[in-house]
Amino acid sequence: MTANLAVLASGRGTNLQALIAAWEEGTLPVNMVGVVSNNPAAQALQRAAAHGIRAVVLEDKDYPSRQDYGEALVSLLKSWGSDLVALAGFMRLLDPVVSRAFPNRILNFHPALLPAFPGLHAQRQALEYGVRVSGCTVHLVDEGMDTGPILLQAAVPVLPDDTEDTLAARILKAEHRLYPQAVRLMATGRVQVRGRRVSFV
Ligand code: GAR
Repeated sequence: MTANLAVLASGRGTNLQALIAAWEEGTLPVNMVGVVSNNPAAQALQRAAAHGIRAVVLEDKDYPSRQDYGEALVSLLKSWGSDLVALAGFMRLLDPVVSRAFPNRILNFHPALLPAFPGLHAQRQALEYGVRVSGCTVHLVDEGMDTGPILLQAAVPVLPDDTEDTLAARILKAEHRLYPQAVRLMATGRVQVRGRRVSFV
């Protein structure tokens, strides 16, 4: 059965665009059921609409708690029949009600080689630490922040003249490559998770 993919995005949505491109090329075998943003100004919403994908705003301020927000999000995603969820620059920590509703079915990417530099400003953290290599990680979402089992990682060099912006741009290219691959692996049922270890069948 074809997976029903929902995408959550808060910002400009270039990773959403990478997923849409793969889907339109026919290399991402999913039904795109919709995009949710917590930010009414997110460019991701326009990108979805431009490709005929339903786009809905769920604003944080309309919900008294993180849990209420999570419950509303779960009902919306379930009402669309979603069975695979891709966070694509969704800059809000989800309540555990969400990961419990979709166990090992939510993907996220992070602009560092986890477990190094979790949380915000990962590229700045990498530069400040002085690492020579950083990159991007695609992982499953559990109840922690950037802690779930890792599916794919790609390394990029950190160059002597890098700023946060130049490093972020290099990592972003890796994200655009890796994320459609990871969603494809999930959508085609090739991902096996044993504890923290993920293998592809
Ligand atoms: C990317 O820079 C990504 O590394 C960062 O958000 C941006 C999303 O870009 N961080 C996270 O996603 C942390 N989970 P986009 O909106 O153009 O896809």
